[in-house]
Amino acid sequence: MKLVLAPMEGVVDFKMRELLTDLGGFDLCVTEFIRVVDLTFPRRVFTRYCPELLNGGFTRAGTPVRIQLLGQVPHALAANARKAVKLGSHGVDLNFGCPAKTVNKSRGGAVLLKEPEQIYQIIKAVREAVPAEHEVSAKIRLGFDDDANSTEIVDAVEQAGASSLAIHARTKRDGYKPPAYWEKIPPLLSRLSIPVVANGEIWQVKDAMRCQEQSQCQDLMLGRGALATPDLAAKIKAHVTDTPYTPLNWENVVHHILHSSMHQDENMSEKYFSARTKQWLSYLKRQYAGAHVLFDEIKTLKSKGDVIKVLEKYAISPDLDSNHNSKILLK
Ligand SMILES: Cc1cc2nc3c(=O)[nH]c(=O)nc-3n(C[C@H](O)[C@H](O)[C@H](O)COP(=O)(O)O)c2cc1C
Repeated sequence: MKLVLAPMEGVVDFKMRELLTDLGGFDLCVTEFIRVVDLTFPRRVFTRYCPELLNGGFTRAGTPVRIQLLGQVPHALAANARKAVKLGSHGVDLNFGCPAKTVNKSRGGAVLLKEPEQIYQIIKAVREAVPAEHEVSAKIRLGFDDDANSTEIVDAVEQAGASSLAIHARTKRDGYKPPAYWEKIPPLLSRLSIPVVANGEIWQVKDAMRCQEQSQCQDLMLGRGALATPDLAAKIKAHVTDTPYTPLNWENVVHHILHSSMHQDENMSEKYFSARTKQWLSYLKRQYAGAHVLFDEIKTLKSKGDVIKVLEKYAISPDLDSNHNSKILLK
């Protein structure tokens, strides 16, 4: 089983990838999308989205990172893809699932699901531009308004030469509304010979097991679930390998937040710092009662120092907490 950390624009940046992969369990991360119109970006754009390029394309924990591109012009995507792998990205991922209006208006993201032929042209151009030893993966939804042309979409992905495919098991119209239709993946799998990664609504270990069973995919991609439970990937891997693992408790999670580079960054503005903390807590609230208490305590605070004081009050290092064996970092 492989676990992929989902791309999440504005949420899963370099610092979040560092923290989540430090906790173990992930085999690959995909960056937030870089939107390509017609230019080939300079190096600094790639390193801004993916600072891991300066570390051989790996997070601090050694997890490979893949740059995601979004756009509609095959030759422009191809040129940027070639550059991304040259700079050290572990393959390239192509986004055909983003529902954002601004992106869709310029024929990028999910709107391309209506045009399998264009998906084919994009992947083919990128595949031809990127040396064969690098994966070219695609990320799709089941369709735009409905899943009527999902078979055409996946056929286009495979025939164009993609190395693997991640399927967010919802349409663009479904947005992020539960459920995810994992059971719609097997009929698509039967048409494909490339590996498929199932994605959507995996919040707990038991969801991962159900998703594997219903989608018939070994490999899974975790998005919001990994923000709500930062050691979800490690828990899933421990479960499938039958390895003892003590999950992080709330106090350990707060410790990790406090000591993450997200919170240790001296240059981060006060406003950004408290916005990011509140954003993450809104995901954590789903799994930890303590996150509600902490959120209420910091919600009106603006100063970084004040937020840190509250975090310090709740944080307990897993190393000091005999209940947690933080040394188990499952790969
Ligand atoms: C805030 C947010 C940002 C996202 N950004 C991206 C993105 O940049 N590229 C992409 O392919 N998908 C993006 N997605 C979709 C996720 O990668 C994932 O497919 C989706 O959240 C479903 O998985 P989940 O239920 O595990 O969260 C985003 C989702 C959210 C909620």
